[in-house]
Amino acid sequence: MSNKAWGGRFSEQPEAWVDEFNASIHFDKALIEYDVQGSIAHATMLANQGIISNSDCEQIKQGLNDILADYKQNKLDLDVSLEDIHLNIEHELIKRIGDAGGRLHTGRSRNDQVATDMHLYTKSEVTELIALIESFQATIVSVAEDNIDTIMPGYTHLQRAQPISFAHHILTYYWMLERDKSRFQDSIKRIDISPLGAAALSGTTYPIDRHETQSLLDFGSLYENSMDAVSDRDYIVETLHNISLTMVHLSRFAEEIIFWSSAEANFITLSDAFSTGSSIMPQKKNPDMAELIRGKVGRTTGHLMSMLMTLKGLPLAYNKDMQEDKEGLFDAVHTLKGSLRIFEGMVDTMTINVEQLQSTVYNDFSNATELADYLVNKGVPFRNAHEIVGKIVLWSIQNNVYLLDVPLTEYQQAHPSIEADIYDYLKPENCVSRRISYGSTGQAAVKEQLKVIKSKNKE
Ligand code: ARG
Repeated sequence: MSNKAWGGRFSEQPEAWVDEFNASIHFDKALIEYDVQGSIAHATMLANQGIISNSDCEQIKQGLNDILADYKQNKLDLDVSLEDIHLNIEHELIKRIGDAGGRLHTGRSRNDQVATDMHLYTKSEVTELIALIESFQATIVSVAEDNIDTIMPGYTHLQRAQPISFAHHILTYYWMLERDKSRFQDSIKRIDISPLGAAALSGTTYPIDRHETQSLLDFGSLYENSMDAVSDRDYIVETLHNISLTMVHLSRFAEEIIFWSSAEANFITLSDAFSTGSSIMPQKKNPDMAELIRGKVGRTTGHLMSMLMTLKGLPLAYNKDMQEDKEGLFDAVHTLKGSLRIFEGMVDTMTINVEQLQSTVYNDFSNATELADYLVNKGVPFRNAHEIVGKIVLWSIQNNVYLLDVPLTEYQQAHPSIEADIYDYLKPENCVSRRISYGSTGQAAVKEQLKVIKSKNKE
């Protein structure tokens, strides 16, 4: 006798390795809580509609809760030949409570059941991801608040461009994460939809109440089309995309952390707790966590591509291909959660080498734009000013000095309007504080930016 739920029609047993290939139990056991939740809602509705008796319903609920408790204590045997978590639970339930257990699947199919589980799982995980993003943002904001006056080189092309405030630099990541957060928040309305009661694809002949299961499971809405309900995996693609883009943002930040902590830059020192050593080079302290996060963007993006390809060309409605939606999503969720937690700890505990940052901008030409602006203020057209400053920079390079060390006579030869106040004007901290445009790096503007963030968070 076959132990399969669908054994009736079959006269041959699959070989063990076929069962193994077919099964999803190794990974979909992660859905057990959602599966039990969905089944309890379904049974409750069946009883309320008079489709099963109240006593069957009570036995089903009790049985399912017992199975879940046993699973949590590692006391539940899962059988690969029973394919997935749904059939393992049903088999166990029938073993424990007999016919009542056999009535649970009335008016339902694994197709709407697995979709229900995945919607519940995704909603819960996305909600958690949003909370983790918010927590990381709060850490970024507090580091920024402490470093409004910390001046550092701002880069374009990874060449020093203009002096900026460290707070301004790091707050850029706050805004990237803010967009990530809002994408996740927006996606919830496309995740929070109940497919339950769609059955295999066409609905059911039983007088079920889909609105009741929707509300029992706290779904915001329900699928209007039973075939769409069982074949939609768009919300998984969307979640994988949102995870991937957040990981891309983290990888950009990670790259900066790696550069900043190099001996060449020495802008920050990572805490020992977020670094590792080398097995051969005793002096080494490596930014492994940042490197891992930078590297892990490969897997999340891979999972996104893989899901898109799995769905491409799939006819309606359920196809077994869809079982492939799980491992990638689970792994992507796990990867982003870990990356956010680690990143927050790393940023929270790093030391910002304020003096090194300061001296860096005193030893470069990142105040050259400022010199051009000085000339513009004296009435020189910007294009001419650019040319004049270019020549002064060339002279400085040839004479091995920076702009603050160019003698006044040299300046005045370059342009007679340059006066002794130029030396104060060109100080990096003054270059920063003179930036008054909205959203700029000037200290006053950064404080304004922080105010906007604070008032946003109060909303
Ligand atoms: N393990 C399956 C999955 O994850 C459950 C749904 C199976 N449905 C079916 N008709 N074979 O997709």
